[in-house]
Amino acid sequence: MSESAKIQVKSIVLAAGKGTRMKSDKPKVLHEIFNKPLVSWVLSACEEAGSFENIVVVGHKGEDVQDFVNKKHPESSCVFQREQLGTGHAVSMAKNELKDFKGNVLILCGDTPLITSESLEKFVDFHNENNAAITVMTSVLNNPKGYGRIVRSASGNVSEIVEEKDCNDTQKAINEINAGMYCIDWQKAKGFFDNLKNDNAQNEYYLTDIIKWGNENGLKVSGYILENSDETLGINSRIQLAEAFKIMNDRHLNKLMDEGVTIVSPENTQISPETEIGADTVIFPNTFINGKNKIGKNCKIGPFSHLRGDCTIEDYVKIGNFVELKKSYVKSHTNISHLSYVGDTKVGSGVNIGAGTITANYNSITKEKKQTIINDGASIGSNTVLVAPVELGEKAFIAAGSVITKDVGANSLGLTRSPQKEIKNYVK
Ligand code: UD1
Ligand code: CA
Repeated sequence: MSESAKIQVKSIVLAAGKGTRMKSDKPKVLHEIFNKPLVSWVLSACEEAGSFENIVVVGHKGEDVQDFVNKKHPESSCVFQREQLGTGHAVSMAKNELKDFKGNVLILCGDTPLITSESLEKFVDFHNENNAAITVMTSVLNNPKGYGRIVRSASGNVSEIVEEKDCNDTQKAINEINAGMYCIDWQKAKGFFDNLKNDNAQNEYYLTDIIKWGNENGLKVSGYILENSDETLGINSRIQLAEAFKIMNDRHLNKLMDEGVTIVSPENTQISPETEIGADTVIFPNTFINGKNKIGKNCKIGPFSHLRGDCTIEDYVKIGNFVELKKSYVKSHTNISHLSYVGDTKVGSGVNIGAGTITANYNSITKEKKQTIINDGASIGSNTVLVAPVELGEKAFIAAGSVITKDVGANSLGLTRSPQKEIKNYVK
């Protein structure tokens, strides 16, 4: 970040709303894209932009959101807004927490998972370079319906935001909209939250009134136009959730291809943005990669592979069709080519895992997960079950069809199948 990074930043993330249109028992911001709740994408973007001690305003099923935040974003905290009286009222719930805070506060919504840390950094830099007290993020849309409109003065300054329901016809025709993200110098602008008013069409305490208030109180107010309006997409329905998933996926696939990864059929491939992939790796169609993973160079993944997260794959590895991989480390030049499940496993280098190999990592009675270790050069015959915890030594050889419950030493053969019988002339 630029020198303006020296000014501390904290964020307030609004997440108290019910999200009625999701038709869900779950609070909206806990709905997931690539295994990660919407609010978590927003908090991660804040953290990557240098804002760590963030405040999430929760309300509807707030305890659930709070549990999640405590677990996954321990530097952040939650404040409750028991009644949802408007976005301005929501922010005012964080007043106590920020009382003495000297720095910038980003105000974001918990349902806009596509916002990137790069855009947030540029936004904060713009705010600082302008010496602004209040900066609102805006976006120009072909169809501005439903959004607050940005009213600018003749000289181009942002003079106010008018909600659609409060707009006159001229204002309705404005296509620069309020993206619902703000950067404010807390000490200069916090006074707004002591003077909230709800004299508008929805009788809500609007955060958007901060613009007019700032102008009336002699503060420097500015507007930052975000080029890529996709980033401000708010999720209100399952259809928008699927749209956001697609945008997030496409964005990441394009980035990977730019970095030298071949994606044979992007329209049939899903790769979580938290997955890094090295150059010259080829991803074949119908591959689904979820969660955080690191894949090396010159690998071949798919078709029809499923990575469920926390996987590290070194270079020149082959993960083939109908292979599921979870929480595993796979060293270079190893093949897991067909029909296998590998979970909670360390796989060495130059290992060959035959078709239909299963690591039985889970005991459903004790609910425990156990590790499998497969050392360098081991070779596992088809249709083998490795019952964890178990370790195969270097170059261990497992005969096809075995159920391995005990460790097998280096260079040894492990075999548990019963000997083949032949009954001569049986058919006659
Ligand atoms: C808001 C803006 C609008 C902007 C749009 C961008 C206001 C008055 N309007 O409208 O100008 O174009 O966002 O998406 O701010 N929330 C709370 N507590 C409340 C009310 C809302 O936490 O009491 C949260 C919601 O959960 C949501 C966010 O604030 O995450 C935005 O609220 P919402 O009601 O969706 O605002 P919009 O009507 O979309
Ligand atoms: Ca609303």
